[in-house]
Amino acid sequence: MELKKAIETRTSIRQYAPEPVSLSDIKEMVRLASLAPSVNNYQPWQFIAITNKELMRRMADAVRERISSLPVNQSKYAANVKSQVEFFATFFEEAPALVALCMSEYETVLEKGVDLTHDEVNQLRNSPDIQSAGACIQNLLLAAVDFGYGACWMSAPMMARKELEALLEITQPFSLVSFVAVGRPAKTVLPRNKKPIDQMFRVIS
Ligand SMILES: Cc1cc2nc3c(=O)[nH]c(=O)nc-3n(C[C@H](O)[C@H](O)[C@H](O)COP(=O)(O)O)c2cc1C
Repeated sequence: MELKKAIETRTSIRQYAPEPVSLSDIKEMVRLASLAPSVNNYQPWQFIAITNKELMRRMADAVRERISSLPVNQSKYAANVKSQVEFFATFFEEAPALVALCMSEYETVLEKGVDLTHDEVNQLRNSPDIQSAGACIQNLLLAAVDFGYGACWMSAPMMARKELEALLEITQPFSLVSFVAVGRPAKTVLPRNKKPIDQMFRVIS
């Protein structure tokens, strides 16, 4: 598929046909994701493809438990907000496949020579580790479109990051960054409305 078309037709898909996603397809999509740029070309990625339904249910349970333990405030939103968030954080349990992106920390030349911690340097550089992860995930989403799948980037489950890392046996130096749920779309979903270019673009010449 032409890249422009993949970019223009990609949209978040949250309901899937029961058809499994082949392991070879997942592997190729992950390979394409891993070609993304990364700070210092450190390619910190590790990917886990999860298709085990029992494990996915336990992961979703961990996220539900975490959401239920969040303190609510006194606003009018308090009654419904948790149930709304719950769907967007747990629908991955119904996906035929889930890709977990894990990352290790990078080391910059800067932190070797200045009296700042890695975290302080990372903040100073505006989190290039997370920026790298974003490029990688976008590649994965576009590769999914190219393969005829639908996908959705999911950071909401990270509310239960520690519990999910334990279930997925992710250990130091890696930590969990985000999920991408993948499957054949259950129905056609049109791309969502986006702002016109002139609302967000200016030139300084
Ligand atoms: C960093 C990031 C995190 C996201 N996390 C979630 C999530 O946890 N659950 C979810 O349903 N969608 C999630 N999304 C998808 C967005 O809701 C979606 O991209 C947005 O509504 C625009 O829709 P589109 O992807 O169809 O263009 C996430 C997107 C990004 C970029």
